This record gives sequence, structure tokens and C-alpha cells, in this order.
Amino acid sequence: MAEKKYGHFDDANREYVITDPKTPWPWINYLGNEDFFSLISNTAGGYSFYKDAKFRRITRYRYNGVPMDNGGRYFYIKDGDTVWNPGWKPCKTPLDSYECRHGMNYTRITGSKNGVEASVLFFVPLHTWAEVQKMTLKNQTEEVKTLKVFSFAEWCLWNAATDMENFQRNFSTGEVEVEGSTIYHKTEYRERRNHYAFYTVNTEIQGYDTDRESFIGLYNEFSEPEAVMEGKPRNSFAHGWSPIASHYIEVTLQPGESRDLIFLLGYVENEQDKKFSAKKVINKEKAHQLIAKFDTTEKVDAAFAELNQYWDNLLNIFTVKSGNDKLDRMVNIWNQYQCMITFCMSRSASFFESGIGRGMGFRDSNQDLVGFVHQIPTRARQRIIDIASTQFPDGGCYHQYQPLTKRGNNDIGGGFNDDPCWLIFGTVAYIKETGDFSILAEQVPFDNQPGTEVSLFEHLKISMNHVINNLGPHKLPLIGRADWNDCLNLNCFSWDPNESFQTTENKGEGSKAESLMIAGLFVVTGKDYVALCKQLAKEAMESKEGEIAGLAEEDYLTEAERMQQAVDEMNEAVKKHGWDGEWFLRAYDFFGNKIGSDENEEGKIFIESQGWCTMAGIGLEEGLCDKALDSSKKRLECEHGMVLNNPAYTTYHVEMGEISSYPEGYKENAGIFCHNNPWVIIGETVAGRGNDAWSHYTKILPSYVEEKYQTLHKVEPYVNCQMVAGKDAAKPGEGKNSWLTGTAAWMWYTVSEFILGIKPDYEGLLIDPCLPSTAKEYEVTRKFRGGEYHITVKNPSGNQKGVKQITVDGTPISGTIVPCSEGKHEVVVEM
Ligand code: BGC
Ligand code: NOJ
Repeated sequence: MAEKKYGHFDDANREYVITDPKTPWPWINYLGNEDFFSLISNTAGGYSFYKDAKFRRITRYRYNGVPMDNGGRYFYIKDGDTVWNPGWKPCKTPLDSYECRHGMNYTRITGSKNGVEASVLFFVPLHTWAEVQKMTLKNQTEEVKTLKVFSFAEWCLWNAATDMENFQRNFSTGEVEVEGSTIYHKTEYRERRNHYAFYTVNTEIQGYDTDRESFIGLYNEFSEPEAVMEGKPRNSFAHGWSPIASHYIEVTLQPGESRDLIFLLGYVENEQDKKFSAKKVINKEKAHQLIAKFDTTEKVDAAFAELNQYWDNLLNIFTVKSGNDKLDRMVNIWNQYQCMITFCMSRSASFFESGIGRGMGFRDSNQDLVGFVHQIPTRARQRIIDIASTQFPDGGCYHQYQPLTKRGNNDIGGGFNDDPCWLIFGTVAYIKETGDFSILAEQVPFDNQPGTEVSLFEHLKISMNHVINNLGPHKLPLIGRADWNDCLNLNCFSWDPNESFQTTENKGEGSKAESLMIAGLFVVTGKDYVALCKQLAKEAMESKEGEIAGLAEEDYLTEAERMQQAVDEMNEAVKKHGWDGEWFLRAYDFFGNKIGSDENEEGKIFIESQGWCTMAGIGLEEGLCDKALDSSKKRLECEHGMVLNNPAYTTYHVEMGEISSYPEGYKENAGIFCHNNPWVIIGETVAGRGNDAWSHYTKILPSYVEEKYQTLHKVEPYVNCQMVAGKDAAKPGEGKNSWLTGTAAWMWYTVSEFILGIKPDYEGLLIDPCLPSTAKEYEVTRKFRGGEYHITVKNPSGNQKGVKQITVDGTPISGTIVPCSEGKHEVVVEM
């Protein structure tokens, strides 16, 4: 369909190669995966921050700019009268060649012009608070080349929100220091900050600039800085206004000669009593140490090799060989990579999320865990504790918290009644991966208040209780401000455009608004909780102390029974009050009227309740699941995936809130909200319908629709985006909100555990694939709790579900759980 291609996958190098800088939207990548992060577009746009994109922004970015993607780390090369950038922007001088390779936490941008090639490798070395930019300049001509190279970075005054608005103060606070080839940014360091940033290069410089106006000129753009155009740095010193960092380097290259310049953008924190080395002079000791670690090509190459090794190790935990490149590249590379990024960022910083608005989401981060826990379980463990620490004693919780402070975000507060259940979801995934029950004994506070600690298990218990304690007239869960669908605001009733739909709850009292999505979620996580309690009973019985997380076998069995009863009741309530005849209802509104019913004129059917109630297997025997899945296919599916609801709302419904604020086909109003497609896909696998599962899955699998991304979806073809405009939209198929979406974790969970069917469980790996009939054989290698399992699934007759026989190292086992044991194992599965 698409005539134009902007790039292609390079699987051997685990890269996406962009060959035309004018992509339909900036195609970005992420550098760093611990504390220091950078966003980088295919033209080197983007910014850096330490831990928190709002509170600790290092470089500045301008949002929604004209032209798009303005600002970044730019290198200007002046060769005679020609000025160009290796990444094409901002000068946009036509290049003789251009290539951008986005890889695992690194990006390499190469441009050439008039016989000079400049290739810049950008990455954040492991465990390092700095971005390395290694530029290799090559003279490919027969003549001597004399080049003038200017670097450029613009500092953000740390708090990205006030940086954009509090100019009456900001324009007077900026301070810098220059020492040799290093430019230091120390705004506010004189008072309460104990951190500064620096930008350096590993060679002598012939000049510099630190004041934006002197370098660029007040009426010029990034594409024509006066200093660069004239080939003369100003050696300017910033006092207030907008401090920047630009190095000026004269480079002479003999024919065929090449030279590396290593730039380093770093961040340093000092202890309070070691802030200064002399009056007004910042203590640069740590900066010097950091600079010394990356000041030669050899050191940088070694750090880059380490980063690649790190990714080899991460991606070797789960690999598939299916004979289908499109599947393999998503499973083995890009889906797992996106899961790492969503784990690190939650929904904070992307080219659609400003980094200012949202921190880490309670529900988002719990879901992200499921795509990440197999990679680095220790980090997942800490995340669970951090999340649970923002809970309240009644089981409710803050909806978001800031990564820097780990404190709940008061601006948004709580009251999203699905949130507590997600803690079960994340924690169970962690324990099944690791077998580490000790996490449940961790003492975790409420709202981060010291002295309020109870065990994590207690947090799980009150999470479940929060649902049970908040049931509505049909014994279904009250929705609160919203459930997973942040835009179904049933207690909001807002007529004021300056009110946030998320925080306005002006009609909570006496509300009858209930959610079928939470009902399904409760049944799924409730069953998980019951199974966990039973497992804990067993562990307690077998343990020396006779207890786990402070409770004994009987306590867990009683708890399992209590929750099983609540789950059964919910199951019944859904069948009785949540079934519409052909599909599951979505909700009851404030007044007790149905939402997502055939009785409604618009919004007759919603995807969330079909997904969750079928995943929960509610009414499976009676055929309800099959019906709901068929209805989803018939009414929600379109060429690009399944829409959220159908038909779209064409007018504003004050009793529903934000959902009806979106034009038809966009976002939560009948967009293809990719995040929830996997719910239905898993539902399909529960019902054993492998062909349908596969068809839904591949519709939103980036590699399967790569062509579409080039012109229609527009966003990055190597990752899932949050939303693709639905069939009711003015422009169906347009993609938006790339990168930071729960879709990443859900796609991973779906394909690894439900389609390929390799499910971590308490006692081992449960094998239960659900396949399209065309899948005849595939191999998965899975590292799991010290063992390595090479699993061959054989499906000669093209069955969709049902394991006939499993052998481990040649010996048949009974059942479908491959027990844990160290060392390498050959597993053969016959369908
Ligand atoms: C968006 C949602 C988002 C919510 C909270 C809404 O405008 O449509 O997807 O979750 O804001 O930030
Ligand atoms: C995006 C939010 O991050 C997520 O929490 C929410 O569930 C979806 N939007 C749907 O509204």
C-alpha cells in the first residue's frame, strides 16, 4: 500500500534503520535505563533528564514546535561556506547520505556532505549519569579538509514546568562556569540544589559559547546560529537569560583520515558540605572523575560493548525461533525493548507525554511490570514496594507518584477504583517469575508515612477488600472517578472546560455507577489471589517457622476461602446483571442506567468488559464468552484492530465525561486503543480460539503492519502506539501516542504466555499454547529460576489448543507444568 519507505528492520544488529530524515513524525529512541535518560529523535532532537523528567530536567525542549521537533543535541559542521548537521536538522542542508540506526538504548546517526562523513553514536553507558556522543569525522576526499565543528546543547533550569513559565525569575537565575573544554551549568546551585550538569569534549577547544543569544542571535533560528554562520565563537558567558553549552573545535583532516571527538553530557550530585571548592566555585571532583572514564575512543568503545552485552543477556532470557521473521523480531527484540522503556518511563516522557504532566501511574506501572519482570526481577521487586507505599489504609491509592520523590501526586489524588487490583496483578507476576515469596513479608508503609508499615501481603489483602467494600446496587464494583478507562467519568458531570475530567468528582455521593471492567478484573485477580493464598498455605506448612509473611497455613486457607466466595459472588453478579444478551455490559451510570448495551443508541458495546470478563472465563460453560468474543469481532473489529466502543459517541454526554469529549474514532471514543486489544486476544485463548487470537494479534503487531506505519500510522514502526484512529474517525489508521503505553506489556504477556504458551507458575513453567492452525512447530528458549529450557512445540495437525504430552529430557511428565530445576533442559511439547 505505501509507496514510500523511510526505513527497515535490521534484525542481526537489533536495529531499525531510518534512511530518510523526513519521517512522517519524529521517530525516537530512548537512551539510558536506570537513572540518566535521554530521548533522541532520528534528527537528534530531544532532551535528557535525571530520574524525573519534571523535577530534574537537564536539557530544554520545546513542545509542539514549528517546525516539529525543535531543539536537541546538535552538531554544526562548517566546511567552507556550507554548514550542515549529521542528522540533517536543524540546518536541513541536503545531505549526500543520511542514516539513523536506533538500537537497544543507543542511536547512531550518520550524515555525509561534500566528502566528509560524520557519524555520531549516542548512548548512556551502564550505571552512568551521562550521555556519550562519540562523533567520528572522516575525510573521504583526496584533499585536506579544514572543518569548524560547533556542538550545541541548551540547559533547562532543572524544573521543566517552571522553566517554561516563570520567566520573571528564570531570566535572572542562570549561571555557568567554564574550565578547559568543559562547560558547567550550575543554576540554583548557590542555594538549594546540590547538583549541576556539564558538557565536555575530549580535546582542546578553540572557543565556546554559554549564552544562547550571543551564539544564535535574538532573531535567528537553530538553523542559523550567528556564531556558526560566521565561523566565530563568541566566547560568551551567560548571566541569566538562557544558558547553553557550545564547543568550537577546528579540525583538519588529511585525505582518508578520520578522527573521533567524544562529547559527554553529564550530571553530578554533591554532598551539602562538599558543594564548593572555593567561594562561588563548584566542586568539580566528581565531574573530573566521570570525564576521565570516557575520554578516549577505547574507553567509550568498551562501555558500548558492555551495553550491548547487557542487552544480549536481557534478550537471551526468552527467545523464539518460529521461522516467521515478523513474529521473531517483535518477540525477541522490539517488544521486550519497549517493555524496558515503559517500565522506566511509565507514561511520563515521550514525544506525546511532556514529562511534566504525569509521573509513574499506579495501574500503569503494575502492568508494565508484567512485560519486564523476567528481565530484571530485582528492579521489579523494588518497583512493587514503591508502588504499594503510595497506598492508603483502606486499600485505595494515589493514582500517580513522582519518580524522584516516590511520593503520591496530590494534584490528581486517588479514587480510581480499579487501581488496587493491579497491585495483585504485578505482585503475582513477580512471585511466579522468581519464586520469591519473601517479598510478601516486606514491611510497606501507607502514603509513605514512616511508622505505618504492614506486610506487603496485607497490602494485597486490603486491595481486594477495597473492591468488596465498594460494591453498588447490583453487587458490582463502584467505579469511583474512573476505572482503567480514565475517560469514562461517571461521577463527574462537568460543564466547566477548565475542570479536569480526572479530578472532578462532583456527584460521587449516592452514585449507582458500577463497572463491569472492574468486575472482570476482580475475578481474574481474585482467582490469582486465591491461588496465591493456597500456595502460601503450602509454603507455610513446609517452612521451618510454619509461617510466611507472618501467617500460618490455616490463616491462608481461611483467606483463600473468603476470597473464593467473593469471586464466586462477583461471577454471579456479572452473569445476572452484567450480561446484555450478546455481550457483557460496560457499566451502570450514576442513575443506574446501562452503558454498553444494545438498548443504547451509541456506545452499545465496549471492549474492556468483553476482554476482562472473557479472560476471567465468566459464563464460559454457558457460552457467554464465545458470544462476547463473536460480538467483539463483529462490532469492534476493523482493518487496523479493535475499537474501544461502538458506535462512537457523536455528542457530549455529561453523565459520561471525557469519553464523549473526543471526536468520533479518536482516543477513548472508539479509537483502537491498542492496550485493550490483548485483553480480548487472551479471552480468545481462554476460549481456545487460536485462529481468532492470532488474527487480532497480528493486526496490531508493528512488524506485521510496518508498511502502514510509513504513511498511515506515521509513528515509529518498531513499537506499539497507544492509539490508532478507529473506523469512525475522520482519518482511520492514523497512529498517535507512541512508545509509552500498556500495550507493550500486554502484547508481551499475550504472545509469550498465551499464544506461545510459556507461563511462569509457582512450581515451574506451565506450557499451554493457543495457536493458529498454520503454526506447525516452533522453539522457545526460556531462562527461568536458574534453569534453561529449550522447548520445542510440535503441532503437526494444526490444532489450536490442547497439550497432549510433554517430555523433559526425554522423560514424559504428567500434567503441563515443567518443574523448575537448574541446568539445561530439552522440553518437547506435543499438541
Ligand atoms: C487521556 C487518557 C489518559 C488521561 C489521564 C486523557 O485525556 O485520553 O488516555 O489516561 O487523560 O492523563
Ligand atoms: C492511558 C493511561 O495511562 C492509562 O492508565 C489508562 O488506563 C488509559 N489511558 C485509558 O484511559
